[in-house]
Amino acid sequence: MHLTLRQLTVFEAVARHLSYTRAAEELHLSQPAVSMQIRQLEDAAGLPLFEKLGKKIHLTEAGREVFHYSQAISLQLREMEEVIEALKGVQGGHLRISVATTANYFATRLLAAFSRLYPDTTFSLDITNRKTLLDQLSNNQTDLVIMGKPPDGLDLDATAFMENPLVIIAPADHALAGQEKISLSAIKDESFVVRELQSGTRIAMERFFEERGFRLNTGMEMTSNAAIKHAVEAGLGLGIVSIHTLELELEAGRLVLLDVDGFPIQRHWYLVTRRGKRLPPVARAFFDFLMGEDAAHMMQSGMRV
Ligand code: PGA
Repeated sequence: MHLTLRQLTVFEAVARHLSYTRAAEELHLSQPAVSMQIRQLEDAAGLPLFEKLGKKIHLTEAGREVFHYSQAISLQLREMEEVIEALKGVQGGHLRISVATTANYFATRLLAAFSRLYPDTTFSLDITNRKTLLDQLSNNQTDLVIMGKPPDGLDLDATAFMENPLVIIAPADHALAGQEKISLSAIKDESFVVRELQSGTRIAMERFFEERGFRLNTGMEMTSNAAIKHAVEAGLGLGIVSIHTLELELEAGRLVLLDVDGFPIQRHWYLVTRRGKRLPPVARAFFDFLMGEDAAHMMQSGMRV
């Protein structure tokens, strides 16, 4: 049987997600490229590995066998990469880091500062949603994750390293702009432009209002903080975002923060790893860098709350 590691890796991702689209996203490939690898693997095996029932794909019996072996092979490949990484030390090492959508606003600055300390390191940075981050951790597809507090009960180690205040933004000409100590009831008729349901920002915001017995009017949902800021600026509603997503909008007077009772919602950013994972030296060095004073100082000087 003539097959390639590439075909097996692609197959493993499709079989795990039972979706060509999600596998293509994870591997940063196009969907036709994924389909081609699967077709070639099926040709090599001489049997179909997936079958389509309605809109869903399922593994055939041969597919289940190949999945079993491809998972073991993928795990071994990753272990081999880790051993090689460990031998390289920090300089020359490669850091695999994944961050929540919102953390993108500061992650690149931290990486730039780290790479000034260790100029021979390289990175791959994946910016993705909370669900994918948790999948990547459980499949050992990343070394370190920066996200809001992960759910309890998973095999993860999570260390808080920085505050993450959530604020209410409004267009500069909003009737409540500039007022102090605005009560929650004063915003109950406002409409809000909010992040998608699975986002950490959205979960924290929902919890905040639920605890206070409030139901917000959240008709407009967007998966990007930039889109929310633009929508708020354009007058589509108020927004709730992490202070870290605000760049020059406040200075330029395009957006204002509303001083609403209970805000900012105080959250934290966490560095998350798989429990028991032996971090490659470069990931350990980045971890220590984030916990150190230089990074804290750098982040504080860039923060506005
Ligand atoms: P998010 O940010 O809203 O982009 O998911 C992560 C978090 O705050 O948990």
